[in-house]
Amino acid sequence: MCGIFAYYGPKTNAGKILVQGLKSLEYRGYDSWGIACKNDSDIAIYKRTGKIGDITSLPKEICGQTTIAIGHSRWATHGGVTRENAHPHSTEDNEVVLIHNGIFENYLEVKKQLIKREHKFKSETDTEVIAHLIQENLDKEGLEESVRKAILKIEGRYAIVVICKKENKIIAARRGSPLIVGVGKNKEFYIASDIPAFLKYTNKVMYLDNNQMVVLSDAKAKFYELTNKKEIKKRIVEITWNPESAEKGEYSHFMIKEIMEQKETLYRVLNQDDKIIKRAAGMINKAVGTYFIGCGTAGKVCLTGEYIFSEIAHKHINSTFGSEFPAHHHFITNKTLIVGVSQSGETADTLEAIEIAKEKKAKVLSIVNVETSSMAQMSNMVVPTKCGPEKAVASTKVTTAQLGVITLLAYACAGRLNDGKTLLLETAGKINDMLNPRYEEHISKLAQKLQNFESMYIIGRGSNYPMALESAIKLQEVSYIHAEGFAGGELKHGPIALIQKGTPCIVLCANDENKKAILSNAMEVKARGGYIIGVSPINEDVFDYWIRVPDVSTASPIVNIIPVQILAYKLALLRKNNPDMPRNLAKSVTVK
Ligand code: M6R
Repeated sequence: MCGIFAYYGPKTNAGKILVQGLKSLEYRGYDSWGIACKNDSDIAIYKRTGKIGDITSLPKEICGQTTIAIGHSRWATHGGVTRENAHPHSTEDNEVVLIHNGIFENYLEVKKQLIKREHKFKSETDTEVIAHLIQENLDKEGLEESVRKAILKIEGRYAIVVICKKENKIIAARRGSPLIVGVGKNKEFYIASDIPAFLKYTNKVMYLDNNQMVVLSDAKAKFYELTNKKEIKKRIVEITWNPESAEKGEYSHFMIKEIMEQKETLYRVLNQDDKIIKRAAGMINKAVGTYFIGCGTAGKVCLTGEYIFSEIAHKHINSTFGSEFPAHHHFITNKTLIVGVSQSGETADTLEAIEIAKEKKAKVLSIVNVETSSMAQMSNMVVPTKCGPEKAVASTKVTTAQLGVITLLAYACAGRLNDGKTLLLETAGKINDMLNPRYEEHISKLAQKLQNFESMYIIGRGSNYPMALESAIKLQEVSYIHAEGFAGGELKHGPIALIQKGTPCIVLCANDENKKAILSNAMEVKARGGYIIGVSPINEDVFDYWIRVPDVSTASPIVNIIPVQILAYKLALLRKNNPDMPRNLAKSVTVK
């Protein structure tokens, strides 16, 4: 979590560039923010709680003549949301100033030693400790070497960017958390947690890999291995995202823009080279044991994958959350295949699971949206979801694209890739027809009915059971209404006790072999007073409110989740929540 953005170059309005760029990283954390600008021999620091402010309200030393600047947007881990705990952090005299994303796991131990050596701290953060560690060697060894030595003492995942008063340079390093170097015109460089921060200025990037550092000085970027200081030559890569795709355009929020982009994202999944899908399917067919691993929504997609593979490829797949995988590692061998599923490719729990599996020599296939992410780099093979940037915290278009990729893989494993492609092509067309203003309006009306409820439930069976779980995540994270998903058949074993007169219950009903059973479950809820919202191709008697979805056989999880995404968005608006930046959350969860 947390967004990092730094500028080094000839432009003299670095402060302004940072404030604008940081706004596009706010999805990574939006508790508080700050920037530091280096002037001839001093560093000015400006920090605030809350969302990123207006450039016009910034003090002169921040917006004025400055060519080296670092900025940060925070998602709190160590220490509450206060101005003191916001980044950048510095030593007492602002000699060393830095920003940080990640967790310095052994910071308390190191802090105690520093306190004994009379260092004084202003915040409760782990980050401030790094600034003091760097300062200890600064006079003797210079910034580069002091940063390198300090970092080697840090346990955990991190990305840091450091400046100091005495040297005109920026040093950045990473292990686990992302950092990308943007190469602009006229020898200017950007360093950011994600590409949209600088996409307006350049689409040329160089990737900083794990355990590497980059030094920006004398109008050059030099890369080194952290452990032995060996210099590394980097290739400049051009990325194809256009700046508009990272902007809201005509929409009021990224969430609704990304929901609507599902009119075309399945087509992009289909436009992959068949060879990629066939090669990936070959890895699954060859493996002795396959684990799908993801977190949050991606975790629910993994569980859906178990059902899809069982039905289409008659193949057993295990799935688990990244955070739970460490308990399964005893089964992993060099014949196991791990399939990491992630939008960002930076989710710490999923990355750690992959690391554990790699230690056991398992093979790794990843289904990621950010093709340049840590997960992609750690994998033997990558199947991209090709959705372009997804910026709203709530995952929408990437969820359905991940389901699309998994469906194609299952068909390819069964030797029927063409059938899978035909099904997805048909589904993509039907989604295109479905996402029209009348459809949105119909769901808005439902949102008006539901906006004041304290709880709602979602049920599904088969591959729509994980989608009931995913529906609950969507509703929770942006509407803040208590929502829970259940397997339809499980209701009678306990949860049905929660149903009272008027309790909303969304029923995900596909036109498949589970239909009769899920409709019986809906009847059981209705008999206890529940208000039944049917998401289904056919309007059934039991439904009090019907949301039509196309009949697309085994692709039903893809179409069934879309109206719930819209409902969650509409509820967020009615309840005056910001759907793009829900409270307590961040888009990319780069801490354990
Ligand atoms: O980037 P990832 O797909 O690995 O992220 C995993 C989860 O953090 C993410 O899906 C989260 O649950 C979303 N906010 C849900 O909408």
